[in-house]
Amino acid sequence: MTHVLVTGGAGFIGTHVVTALHDAGHRVTVVDSGHPGAHRGPLPDTVAGAPLVRIDVRDRPALAAVLADGVDAVVHQAAMVGLGVDLDDLPEYVGCNDLGTAVLLAVMARAGVHRLVLASSMVVYGEGAYACAGHGPVRPAPRTVADLAAGRYEPTCPRCAAPLTPGLVDEDDPLDPRSVY
Ligand SMILES: NC(=O)c1ccc[n+]([C@@H]2O[C@H](COP(=O)([O-])OP(=O)(O)OC[C@H]3O[C@@H](n4cnc5c(N)ncnc54)[C@H](O)[C@@H]3O)[C@@H](O)[C@H]2O)c1
Ligand SMILES: [Zn+2]
Repeated sequence: MTHVLVTGGAGFIGTHVVTALHDAGHRVTVVDSGHPGAHRGPLPDTVAGAPLVRIDVRDRPALAAVLADGVDAVVHQAAMVGLGVDLDDLPEYVGCNDLGTAVLLAVMARAGVHRLVLASSMVVYGEGAYACAGHGPVRPAPRTVADLAAGRYEPTCPRCAAPLTPGLVDEDDPLDPRSVY
């Protein structure tokens, strides 16, 4: 039996991960801060039967104490998600997502926990994959100010401006992050 720590385990994906690990017979511990961007009320005491420790992943001593309880592997889902509203959101995004991951890695290294599953996002690939009927696969450019002002949010072909069909993004596609998230 593996003891798996699921950060962000009270969230959308984390809850499913906790349930799957629990059903597979693993011991699971959940860490989640109950971020107000994701939760309106207080967090439950357990997720799918797994105990929930209500801490922020940036709280290094608290996270170290959880890892010291015989954790074998970490599934890191704790993050502030979405695109934010304005630049005031920047510190909290970078704090939860970047600093939080950095603290987790430091604590894992110190505790000798070497197995990590890290959640990424399609957002790192920019607009994602699209195809034009006439030009095949294309990479849409950023939306223009004029398009946004006119309420045109769907990307168009950078060569002929035709409507595009969305496709699946491959993990090896080039990175093109366009938001702080
Ligand atoms: N939902 C999707 O469609 C989707 C798609 C691609 C990638 N992802 C990625 O999967 C991960 C989880 O996303 P989700 O949809 O389950 O989001 P979610 O908001 O439902 O869950 C994230 C959880 O992390 C917790 N959290 C936030 N900041 C924290 C902090 N500093 N310390 C501890 N806990 C914190 C929140 O309280 C929340 O319960 C994210 O990294 C996200 O980018 C999600
Ligand atoms: Zn085209």
